[in-house]
Amino acid sequence: MTGSASRYPDVYAQSIRDPEGFWREAARGIDWFEEPRRAFDPALGIYGRWFPGGVTNVCHNAVDRHVANGRAAQPAIFYDSPVAGAKRTVTYGELQTEVSVLAGVLRELGVGKGDRVVIYMPMIPEAVFAMLACARIGAIHSVVFGGFAAAELASRIEDAQPKVVLSASCGIEPSRIVTYKPLLDLALTMAKHQPEACVVFQRPQVEAKLQPGRDHDWAALREKAIAGGMAAECVPVEATDPLYILYTSGTTGKPKGVVRDSGGYIVALRWSMEGLYGVEPGEVFWSASDIGWVVGHSYIIYAPLLTGCTTVLYEGKPVGTPDAGAFWRVIEEYKVAALFTAPTALRAIKKEDPDGVLMRDYDRSSLRTLFLAGERADPDTVEWAQNKLDVPVVDHWWQTETGWAIAGNPVGLGALPIRVGSTGVPMPGYQVDILDEGGHPVGADRMGSIAIKLPLPPGCLPTLWRQDERFRESYLEEFPGYYKTADAGFKDGNGQLFIMGRTDDIINVAGHRLSTGGMEEVLAAHADVAECAVIGIHDELKGEVPCGFVVLKAGVVRSPADIETEIIALVRERIGPVAAFRLAITVNRLPKTRSGKILRGTMKKIADAEPWNMPATIDDPSSLDEIAAALNARGLAKVSAA
Ligand code: COA
Ligand code: AMP
Repeated sequence: MTGSASRYPDVYAQSIRDPEGFWREAARGIDWFEEPRRAFDPALGIYGRWFPGGVTNVCHNAVDRHVANGRAAQPAIFYDSPVAGAKRTVTYGELQTEVSVLAGVLRELGVGKGDRVVIYMPMIPEAVFAMLACARIGAIHSVVFGGFAAAELASRIEDAQPKVVLSASCGIEPSRIVTYKPLLDLALTMAKHQPEACVVFQRPQVEAKLQPGRDHDWAALREKAIAGGMAAECVPVEATDPLYILYTSGTTGKPKGVVRDSGGYIVALRWSMEGLYGVEPGEVFWSASDIGWVVGHSYIIYAPLLTGCTTVLYEGKPVGTPDAGAFWRVIEEYKVAALFTAPTALRAIKKEDPDGVLMRDYDRSSLRTLFLAGERADPDTVEWAQNKLDVPVVDHWWQTETGWAIAGNPVGLGALPIRVGSTGVPMPGYQVDILDEGGHPVGADRMGSIAIKLPLPPGCLPTLWRQDERFRESYLEEFPGYYKTADAGFKDGNGQLFIMGRTDDIINVAGHRLSTGGMEEVLAAHADVAECAVIGIHDELKGEVPCGFVVLKAGVVRSPADIETEIIALVRERIGPVAAFRLAITVNRLPKTRSGKILRGTMKKIADAEPWNMPATIDDPSSLDEIAAALNARGLAKVSAA
């Protein structure tokens, strides 16, 4: 099904035939202080390392290089915050100044190459300065999403062991102000590891209380650094040095620290901007995500800035800030060429403005392509967007682990015809196979586990932070020679991929990746709970929402409704509001196999009103009727959590 005009077939074939030559050529898109010895060395690391011997600096490539090349006056960031009522344009010249001053502040606080810095901040320009300032001095940042609870922040601090934490007084949600500092203080009472310093940016909405000795006022340090001429220059780092750690949900409550290297990542991102997204230097790119997620790291910050684009930093929602026309306003105002968002955002807009009336109020002529990722894009929503917006809607598939798309429609190489429901074809360097349980590739149109042949291309994780063994066990052991994506799906006869769901207990709630295993750990910690099961059930808006079933301990006489309320509060307290855990149901027992395995898959099918077969190994078939009855009693056969 390849479009005759597309260069994709040749480009992809070259990337597989001659990876060394392909990625060496791509590496010319960035500045090196010292050229790599070779593109890939299979003898290094766990499955090989990209660009060994190469010396570069990510901040130099994202900022200084553009200033030196005449982009000082070009906007680097359009910050737009309907929730704060604020807008700000930051040019590349200003970005260089701010980042080098903040890098100087970090250096004064003792942060050096390889030290970790946790960034717990909302979507404000200072958060971008913070990430780039770390990159400038070779420190490793670890950004924690604002919607997580203190305990999640604590576990990340414990694992990353940061020298410094950068934070802000608050985030702003449409319904409330999220005071970050008390959450940070609480997290630091939970973590054994203590940073040497916390630097807090005071937003006008809330003034955070600073703890003398440990906490510093961001603005005061900035002023002092400017007065003292403390700006820091870019330090050379190895291509294989980590740029960041980004924690993502694993199958237990303990998150996985995905490590991103420096050289391979920026080569891949730079290639993707032109090859996949079809966006050129000087254009405006908008990723309506959050800096706490991988999409934010790669496509709010690094890829657009590496390319000399202007990135939009939008602190708002697709609806309610103030209405479902918000995205179209931003496109008009900043002349956005490409928008990247999650399907759930479109579903939210479609729900409020099904006829696209608000779209007509804005000039969207700058928009060439809409990209979707983060969760399965349902064909209805894709078609709705395509019809209403009259631009190609490109679904593409990737994971925190890969850092950029595994598969998509390479618009920059000449778009292939769009097949709604498919996430397109593999990007350069990715050899994607569909495997059966024995690890053998299956034929076209057959469902299986999706795996990527090693080595992974540049940009993908080389390991998990200080957990090489967990990396091997989680991703490399089940299918030798492959990286296991833990997604299931199939390829059609033309090599187009269809991603149908996870093979583990990860669920996707409004584009946010969450572990039901992690939630079960929280439920099980309630004093009255004997056992529990959490499943993701279909939701019209969020794609999936978690639903927890609990069996109470014998002799508990308290009202199940009270216990359910406590459980819901507990998940919010331990994992955070982002879990959107609002459904807890008490049952007398859980359906199990004779060997005691909880039948979560069948429970999910019942909740989603999908066809299901009685599992041959079930202990007592009537236990499933009880689940159906419990769901029906709540009117939850097809639930919407909105
Ligand atoms: N800081 C603090 N809290 C946050 C937060 C943040 N950065 N982001 C979300 N939350 C909170 C919300 O306020 C909400 O809290 P509540 O229970 O008190 O209402 C909760 O987490 C759930 O948030 P969310 O799932 O985002 O639902 P929502 O109802 O606020 O908004 C959508 C629904 C569809 C508009 C929203 O989910 C959305 O824009 N999703 C896009 C997701 C996305 O871009 N993902 C990135 C992958 S590409
Ligand atoms: P995250 O690591 O948060 O980016 O989540 C990655 C997971 O989200 C993948 O493993 C998939 O299960 C899912 N996902 C991401 N993009 C898509 C897509 N385009 N279609 C279907 N599922 C997707």
